[in-house]
Amino acid sequence: MHFYHLAFSALAGQALAAPSAAASATPTPQNWLYSPQIDDVALNLLDRHDIVGVQAQYTWKSLEPTEGYYNFSKITRDYKNVLGKGKKLWVQVQDRTFDPSNDPVPGYLHTPYYNNGSAPSCDGNCTSENFNVTGYVAQQWNARVRSRYQALLKELAHDFDGKITGLNLPETSITVDVTANNYTDEGYFLGELENAGYAASVFKKSYAVQYVNFWPDGWNNTNNRFTDSFNYYAKHGVGVGGPDLIPNKPGQMKNSYVYIPEYHNKVPITVIAVQQPDVLNETNAATGKPFTKEEFVDFAVNDLKIDIIFWTTIIPWLQGK
Ligand SMILES: *[C@@H]1O[C@H](CO)[C@@H](O)[C@H](O)[C@H]1NC(C)=O
Ligand SMILES: *[C@@H]1O[C@H](CO)[C@@H](O)[C@H](O)[C@H]1NC(C)=O
Ligand SMILES: *[C@@H]1O[C@H](CO)[C@@H](O)[C@H](O)[C@H]1NC(C)=O
Ligand SMILES: *[C@@H]1O[C@H](CO)[C@@H](O)[C@H](O)[C@H]1NC(C)=O
Ligand SMILES: *[C@@H]1O[C@H](CO)[C@@H](O)[C@H](O)[C@H]1NC(C)=O
Ligand SMILES: *[C@@H]1O[C@H](CO)[C@@H](O)[C@H](O)[C@H]1NC(C)=O
Ligand SMILES: *[C@@H]1O[C@H](CO)[C@@H](O)[C@H](O)[C@H]1NC(C)=O
Repeated sequence: MHFYHLAFSALAGQALAAPSAAASATPTPQNWLYSPQIDDVALNLLDRHDIVGVQAQYTWKSLEPTEGYYNFSKITRDYKNVLGKGKKLWVQVQDRTFDPSNDPVPGYLHTPYYNNGSAPSCDGNCTSENFNVTGYVAQQWNARVRSRYQALLKELAHDFDGKITGLNLPETSITVDVTANNYTDEGYFLGELENAGYAASVFKKSYAVQYVNFWPDGWNNTNNRFTDSFNYYAKHGVGVGGPDLIPNKPGQMKNSYVYIPEYHNKVPITVIAVQQPDVLNETNAATGKPFTKEEFVDFAVNDLKIDIIFWTTIIPWLQGK
């Protein structure tokens, strides 16, 4: 979902039930839906025999409307609906958005104690002179914010560990005002690792996965951001994945696409999403046409060693029968 440095950045079925075990080599990945909301379109597509489950998104503020009061009724309802189809649910917790009208953190964080909780982010052509706010990200470099976020993860695990197949934390790529809010690249990096390790420590049956696509000061493994983070994920049982499956995209090929396959046998699971606007805006340089299903799958399996692909419900191959 993320545009970065002018480059577009941004099975768990029975066979992969044990989060602690390395994912075994599978000839084809499992096909899941990616649908931010579980609507009728997604529910109808779950009737297809070739679809294992659905990944949906829930914002932090929707799950914790007031401090320490959790409302998981939407996940519970979605879980029942999906289970009723004999299918599986995967949860993505949104602590960042790509919409300037949607701040994902609960209102109680907008207080001085939490330094307002979130920070404006810029996706696209961002410089200090041209910082166009395109969304918000929780200040995960702030220990007080992180502690509330981890309390949410613990509560989610209490209710859903072993029920949902997996939970993932959103992509690591961000651009914020580096001179504000005590932000540091190091603080952000370490905060993100801590959250991912915490998620894996409380989700003992369901997979805990970090989407890791870019690090603010980690282009092409600068500062060892990719090797250090992937070593941490391997050590702490965190699966890895990413938001944008774009075969051979140069930006990705210098970053996470190197490490996802390299670590696929060292982490519990590897996943990737094919989502808007990638499917509409990216073309295969070799053919000049949008990527076909076969091209996506071939790259995901053979180059990235992926276990699950989450497909946007608008992808052409899911239309019709
Ligand atoms: C919980 O959230 C749902 C929406 O997902 C809402 O309809 C309901 O009123 C909320 N419950 C409480 C007690 O706030
Ligand atoms: C705090 O966050 C709110 C909601 O995103 C934003 O409107 C406001 O400008 C922020 N305040 C400060 C002081 O950053
Ligand atoms: C990015 O923004 C800078 C400063 O506003 C501008 O000079 C440059 O042309 C922009 N680049 C692109 C690719 O839009
Ligand atoms: C700023 O971002 C908004 C979306 O949040 C977009 O519509 C607008 O074109 C952007 N403006 C510039 C100058 O990039
Ligand atoms: C920033 O860090 C300084 C020094 O640790 C601290 O005194 C201050 O409260 C922090 N400010 C914010 C906004 O977190
Ligand atoms: C990436 O980093 C490696 C090792 O530091 C260097 O040899 C290589 O030239 C870099 N590649 C790019 C495309 O920046
Ligand atoms: C993606 O393509 C659509 C039309 O196919 C276009 O309206 C939109 O501006 C494009 N978005 C980006 C980020 O290039």
